[in-house]
Amino acid sequence: MEFEKNILCIGAGYVGGPTLAMIAYKCPQYKVTVVDINPERIARWNSDNLPIYEPGLDEIVKAVRGRNLFFSTDIERGIREADIIFVSVNTPTKTFGAGAGMAADLQYWEKTARQIRQYAESPKIIVEKSTLPVKTAHAMERMLQATNNHVHFEVLSNPEFLAEGTAIRDLEYPDRVLIGSRETPSGLKARQELVEIYANWVPRERIITSNLWSSELSKLVANAFLAQRISSINSITSLCEKTDADITEVARAVGTDSRIGDKFLNASVGFGGSCFKKDILNLVYICRYYGLEEVADYWEGVVKINDYQKERFVLNMLTAMFNTLAGKRICIFGFAFKANTGDTRESPAMFVCKLLLEERAELVISDPKALENAKEDLKGAQGKISYVEDPYEAVAGCDAIAVLTEWDIYRQLDFKKIYGSMDKPCFIFDGRNILDHRGLFEIGFNVFPIGKPPLTHLK
Ligand code: NAD
Ligand code: UGA
Repeated sequence: MEFEKNILCIGAGYVGGPTLAMIAYKCPQYKVTVVDINPERIARWNSDNLPIYEPGLDEIVKAVRGRNLFFSTDIERGIREADIIFVSVNTPTKTFGAGAGMAADLQYWEKTARQIRQYAESPKIIVEKSTLPVKTAHAMERMLQATNNHVHFEVLSNPEFLAEGTAIRDLEYPDRVLIGSRETPSGLKARQELVEIYANWVPRERIITSNLWSSELSKLVANAFLAQRISSINSITSLCEKTDADITEVARAVGTDSRIGDKFLNASVGFGGSCFKKDILNLVYICRYYGLEEVADYWEGVVKINDYQKERFVLNMLTAMFNTLAGKRICIFGFAFKANTGDTRESPAMFVCKLLLEERAELVISDPKALENAKEDLKGAQGKISYVEDPYEAVAGCDAIAVLTEWDIYRQLDFKKIYGSMDKPCFIFDGRNILDHRGLFEIGFNVFPIGKPPLTHLK
């Protein structure tokens, strides 16, 4: 079959895989290929055991794989054949050299630019899908044009706003699609070409366009604003715990103001995920680079409050459990950074577990989807850790439960049965405020929610 366009994505991760699968699903007229340097990842995309867990993803991939969606390690061929190249490689925080711990590590991104330059023989539209520092497109343009003068490259910015766990819904019904381009004739033409791809399923009024720099910066700012809301509500949890106010009541009262809105006000043990922290630090780094110290300090506060919240959670556990956790068995309910994903990158659970191990607690970690990643993350950690998927088995003989991911299954457990199998006195620290605290207290648990008065039988 003849396809209208050849679309390539470099980087078959949490963004590249689902996003391009959705494009293939909605646009049978295009041939979509996703390539990666990691052969195991590609093999899993071609198998029944996809490399990431995302509700609804299996069905979409099964429907289009081999029809107009292909996963491959042949990057060279992919580049040669493509009209449009999405780049969705990882852009983690730098761990070395200048800007270590703050700036984005652009080595994967730069390597991709070099590969494109090396293999491209015809004009290409290059789409930044990865989240990047503002002005990266300029660096990309310079890199692409450094030697290969006869091929025209047009660089666009098209940041991705999907959230894990709801990626398929977010891709199918996005709040908006953002496309940034140069405002030159060729830039505007390329912008229009990308608009037409999304217009296959996204209403036109939801496809917004801007200049390149606004688009790149908007992605960092959107994540900073989302994380800021969580840090804002989490900062108030500590005050609630001191004053007998209840964070759920405060969030409801505040969030019903239509100017503020009620989303993203769930108090928690802290936000996690691969992006919030890295993108804010990146924003902070850029502000400092331009000498905007006050602005940098303001946004850095969002990350500081998040670290404080995770530490506070463990300190609350320690204080409640008579100031010693050594030798106590603590069951961790949930290791993923949020529900409905197996992703554990920057998960608050990892941070909490490490602090608990420092206190010499024994850990039994339970999670319906993230145990494989949890084992990898805690490889080499000092202390006693076991991994048990079944929550009833996991809690047996434990002194405490810490709920760290808001998985639905934890709301539906038989806590009477659980109480019966635990050591007494037993404690629940609900880091997500998802359980029926009064009911648990009545069963006999000492209950410590986030930002609410504890319910305890201890005098
Ligand atoms: P990921 O680590 O899951 O995937 C990146 C993939 O790129 C990896 O499989 C890696 O092997 C591959 N790769 C690296 N260098 C390569 C190269 N030179 N050639 C081919 N493949 C290469 O990362 P992710 O979570 O998909 O994130 C990708 C980007 O999207 C990041 O910039 C991130 O900030 C952004 N983003 C992520 C999310 C999310 O929910 N995870 C949401 C929006 C935006
Ligand atoms: C986030 C953004 O929501 C996406 O728009 C963005 O594309 C993505 O980052 C990215 O750039 O990577 P994601 O990290 O997948 O998506 O998940 P979120 O739903 O934003 O949750 C992030 C963290 O905040 C989780 O640990 C979650 O449990 C926590 N959270 C969220 C709260 O503690 N309280 C809330 O009210 C909401």
